[in-house]
Amino acid sequence: MVKINLKLLKKRAQDEIKRAGDLKLLNEVFKKYLGKKGELTLVLRSLEKLPKAKRVKVGKEANEIKNFLRVQFDQKAAAIKEKAKKEAEEKEWIDITQPGKKPATGHLHPLTQVRRKTEEVFQGLGFTVTEGPEVENEWYNFDALNIPKDHPARDLWDTFYLKGGLLLRTHTTPVDVRYMEKNNPPLRIITIGRCFRHEATDASHESNFYQLDGLMVGKDISVANFKAIIQEFFQRFFGKPVEIRMRPSFFPFTEPSFEVDMTCLVCKGKGCSACQKTGWMEMMGAGMMHPNVFKNSGLSPKNWQGWAFGMGFDRLAMMKYKINDIRLLYSGDLRFLKQF
Ligand code: DAH
Repeated sequence: MVKINLKLLKKRAQDEIKRAGDLKLLNEVFKKYLGKKGELTLVLRSLEKLPKAKRVKVGKEANEIKNFLRVQFDQKAAAIKEKAKKEAEEKEWIDITQPGKKPATGHLHPLTQVRRKTEEVFQGLGFTVTEGPEVENEWYNFDALNIPKDHPARDLWDTFYLKGGLLLRTHTTPVDVRYMEKNNPPLRIITIGRCFRHEATDASHESNFYQLDGLMVGKDISVANFKAIIQEFFQRFFGKPVEIRMRPSFFPFTEPSFEVDMTCLVCKGKGCSACQKTGWMEMMGAGMMHPNVFKNSGLSPKNWQGWAFGMGFDRLAMMKYKINDIRLLYSGDLRFLKQF
């Protein structure tokens, strides 16, 4: 006969059930007490060897403990399963109200954005977008534009000269000549392109920069047309009314020539450091195309007249986005570029 304290057995089993952290451990506890060779099973099996009175008493107690423990096992197993289920659910839970993650797709460089906007506005005003070579010859870059070889005016452009009479164009104005050679007026074109000058760089100068050149030729195209077109361009480009003013100036390829300023958008004309406290921003050179340039392009100045203008294109971008250093546009610094 197995001599055993049933109360203690019950207590031990209960504690172990409580401590079992997963189904495998719980199963081991079950085997230990209620398995084929489990402690309580052995007690139940040995009952027959007891005298009748004792058998009834011990048998009753042992069976009660067996039923009690079974219930405990079942409850614990259910609790373990429930906990595992909850944990799994928590792991898989998704917050369907959370905003999605935006994939980094990149975007256009501010100069490209400004270029597209400029082309769109001028196309809306009836202009054709043209282009020409970045490696030019002296004829188109200078001579055809009424800038003779030994004339001091050529010094206005610090030029990178290449071999064989070639050079890196210092402005986009040569494209005007190339276009007039091949196309008959009336015509309206703009050219946006890269230009090069051999000069020291600072906040407003780069040796590599962009220029926007415009040309309008017809029978009776005048400065009044120029003013109207430029005012309209600024208004559409900046999305608000912009005042402009014209001052006399000099360019070899225009006569008369003038300089065009617009209200400084940084201070709205009040005067700030960006506009040297004048309230005006210098935006471009312009003028009525010189008769010699028409002749050099194969057109008769008796039949045609028109205006041209040339603008620092980077400057347009700087005004639009209030950028105070041209070099930032060419730095390739993503911390800068991601702002636009
Ligand atoms: N090409 C000139 C420059 O680089 C700017 C310019 C002035 C262009 C007057 C023009 C113009 O077409 O008419 O300084």
